[in-house]
Amino acid sequence: MKDPLASCAPTFHGVTERDGESYIQLDDLLNNFDEPCVMDCKMGVRWVSVLTYLEEELAKARGKPKLRKDMYKKMIEVDPHAPTEEESAQQGVTKPRYMQWRETISSTSTLGFRIEGIKKGDGTCSTNFKTTKTRDQVHKAFLGFIDGNMMILKKYLMRLQEIRAVVESSEFFRHHEVIGSSLLFVHDKKGKCNIWLIDFGKTTPLPEGQTLNHRIPWQEGNREDGYLYGFDNLIEILSSIAS
Ligand SMILES: Nc1ncnc2c1ncn2[C@@H]1O[C@H](COP(=O)(O)OP(=O)(O)O)[C@@H](O)[C@H]1O
Ligand SMILES: [Mg+2]
Repeated sequence: MKDPLASCAPTFHGVTERDGESYIQLDDLLNNFDEPCVMDCKMGVRWVSVLTYLEEELAKARGKPKLRKDMYKKMIEVDPHAPTEEESAQQGVTKPRYMQWRETISSTSTLGFRIEGIKKGDGTCSTNFKTTKTRDQVHKAFLGFIDGNMMILKKYLMRLQEIRAVVESSEFFRHHEVIGSSLLFVHDKKGKCNIWLIDFGKTTPLPEGQTLNHRIPWQEGNREDGYLYGFDNLIEILSSIAS
């Protein structure tokens, strides 16, 4: 909350306890909107932190790969030919394998961001963007989200440029690996419109002295997350819609 990033994130009001569980209290970002349309857009080229990934790879190497039937099911729903013969026989895949496969079918690795879900003002939801991969597909999904409203698009673009400048100036951002964090887009029919950074559950501090550029490609060991690479692409794609 002391970093410039605070101006782009919901205000944090401390931790509260309920039924023995701890919860963080945040501002409700949908407050003051009238039948809001909401889009969660996950940023970056990686979904798992290097550390989580390494831990899972290690566990796998120890010879007890846990087979996930649920992930196998999700896989064949999208692409019946995706599993290997062995995986089909086992009716299961390991989690790292599933995560990697998902990255190949979505825009995560190519564009550096991915639409997670959209909720329209009438309450209808769509989370069916797993295979939204190309520029054209993102373009279409976004136009659907704003119902072709160019005023909203321009406001979103201005806000994105503002947020990128803040993110680039943030010391917090330079010193953290940001995995699985999203931009939350919110607008309503009155033309009210805003974007926030949310979901820092998998954001981890870097070792003392290390910083990230957030644009250069990930290589084993460098912990780069591609957050700004995705941000640049997102702005570029929305700009191309606007023009
Ligand atoms: N402060 C907030 N105000 C309103 N809605 C929020 C807020 N934080 C999160 N949400 C909504 O909840 C969803 C899930 O929250 P998120 O922080 O991404 O957790 P996770 O992805 O771990 O479930 C978001 O996509 C967004 O729609
Ligand atoms: Mg999330």
